[in-house]
Amino acid sequence: MNHEAWEGDMDSMIEGDASNTLPASFDDRHLLYQYSVQVPEFEVKFMDKVFRKLRGRRAHFLREDFCGTAAVCAEWVRTHKKHRALGLDLDRSTLDWGLEHNIAPLGKDADRVELREADVRNVTEKVDLVCAYNFSWFLLNPVNQLTRYFKKLRKSLGPDGLVFLDCYGGWEAQQVVEEPRLVETDEGMFTYTWEQASFDAINNVAKCHIHFELAGGRRLKKAFTYEWRLYSPAEAREAFLAAGFSDCIVYWDYSDDPEEDLYKPAKKAENQPGWLAYIVGVV
Ligand SMILES: C[S@@+](CC[C@H](N)C(=O)[O-])C[C@H]1O[C@@H](n2cnc3c(N)ncnc32)[C@H](O)[C@@H]1O
Repeated sequence: MNHEAWEGDMDSMIEGDASNTLPASFDDRHLLYQYSVQVPEFEVKFMDKVFRKLRGRRAHFLREDFCGTAAVCAEWVRTHKKHRALGLDLDRSTLDWGLEHNIAPLGKDADRVELREADVRNVTEKVDLVCAYNFSWFLLNPVNQLTRYFKKLRKSLGPDGLVFLDCYGGWEAQQVVEEPRLVETDEGMFTYTWEQASFDAINNVAKCHIHFELAGGRRLKKAFTYEWRLYSPAEAREAFLAAGFSDCIVYWDYSDDPEEDLYKPAKKAENQPGWLAYIVGVV
């Protein structure tokens, strides 16, 4: 999940863009997505730290569920020579993009990564920890499907296994809104827009789109679309416990600075218009 929150007016961003010369490689929805919403360095550090704190040892074998382009797998193996990673996703073309752009550049370290075209609910080989980021677990709806998935995860984990999820919420998460944000990279800048197109108050399903706008006015409208259940940490907790996990810990962001994160375990939280949290399922 992306932790930078620069929001503003789309017109002024386009006007303010000095460059019409973004490299052709920018016309690639996976690359733009990675720049906009992924921070694998943070997530890998967070998992490493929490696992050591809760389990008193280092985790080595990570499974990244709904891995997409497998940015977390790549960062996991890059950061420690004993780390291995298995990435699972249903979409062959997205996995292939990840192999070419994230895994192959690792060189020799790429031998410690496997990307597999598979449903996350059908794989049970043993790993130390599982992560599912950018809210992908919201795709499993209704809650009995979520519990079934967590039961399968339980089988994939040893006696000290952990599952890492991220979650967003707050009343703004239910509003129909478009939130443009300028993304700056070493090669140029572009606009990322998160659109919440609809929210159903009965079944809690939200429909969301990601759009990109490049220098020169080129738009990638609906580059990604998600229709998912806006689950709360309370529902995640109940599903984890129903699936045989012993505990579920919510890590809430206590930082006052939007540029910094300070996630700490929490049992209660003040209501907020919009929030991001991590949820850890404990075997
Ligand atoms: C929201 S994207 C998340 C990608 C990545 N985890 C990230 O952090 O950006 C959801 C991904 O889940 C995949 N997916 C959806 N249902 C799946 C399932 N049952 N098993 C495996 N992958 C699935 C889609 O193909 C898509 O790549």
